Amino acid sequence: MKIVAVADYEEMSKVAAAYIVSTIRSSSSFSLGLATGGTPLGVYQQLIKNYQTQQTSYAHVQTFNLDEYVGLSPQDDESYHAYMNHHLFQAINIPPEQTHVPNGMAVNLEEECVRYENHLQERGGVDLQLLGIGQNGHIGFNEPGTSFASRTHVVKLTPSTLAANARYFPPSKKQPTHALTMGIATILQSKEIILLASGEKKQQAMNQLLNGHMSESVPATALRMHGAVTIVADRKALQLAL
Ligand code: F6R
Repeated sequence: MKIVAVADYEEMSKVAAAYIVSTIRSSSSFSLGLATGGTPLGVYQQLIKNYQTQQTSYAHVQTFNLDEYVGLSPQDDESYHAYMNHHLFQAINIPPEQTHVPNGMAVNLEEECVRYENHLQERGGVDLQLLGIGQNGHIGFNEPGTSFASRTHVVKLTPSTLAANARYFPPSKKQPTHALTMGIATILQSKEIILLASGEKKQQAMNQLLNGHMSESVPATALRMHGAVTIVADRKALQLAL
């Protein structure tokens, strides 16, 4: 794994966005895997800024999001569909039909997982996957104990993940307890991966990723099996690891 140690969140966002832009610009057909949460927000702001100033086109790009909450529709502000529309898609020239997010409202969730996985495979898989990391070492919503062979599946979120994400839900809104997520094997099939990490809260997870045993109890350690992972992380996130 290549480690790019940066000073802070802003530098992390700029470095990752510059790389994403360069790969998109050098390709005529591109599949970009996307994450939500707090960490990639700065990257999306940089991509929008670049779109506005350099006119980088997304007309040839397909996006595949890692995950979505069960029971939330794109009209729910807290859904990852809404997050992506709000923080990126509506500000760039990507055709809506080229953006893919699992459907958390599907009547049959198991069928939706198979559909999403097949859809991704039929389109040739992900070229570049952007990842964050959970405080418990999750990637996507693959919680500790998830099989490294997993494909897109339904997960029950752990108390740690529910607590970390509670800040996004107003008191009036019930926080979903389940989500759909690409599996670890799905993520590992991406041709290239960039994992972002910023801040003290990610110190333990980054230390386990870089120095701990490879184990399904720390899902991110599966990334060691992949030949093209770049970690872009700031000093605080890397403090225990390096
Ligand atoms: C979200 C996702 C999660 C987050 C992780 C970190 O699509 O896949 O794995 O990347 O929970 O979240 P933040 O960035 O909010 O700390």
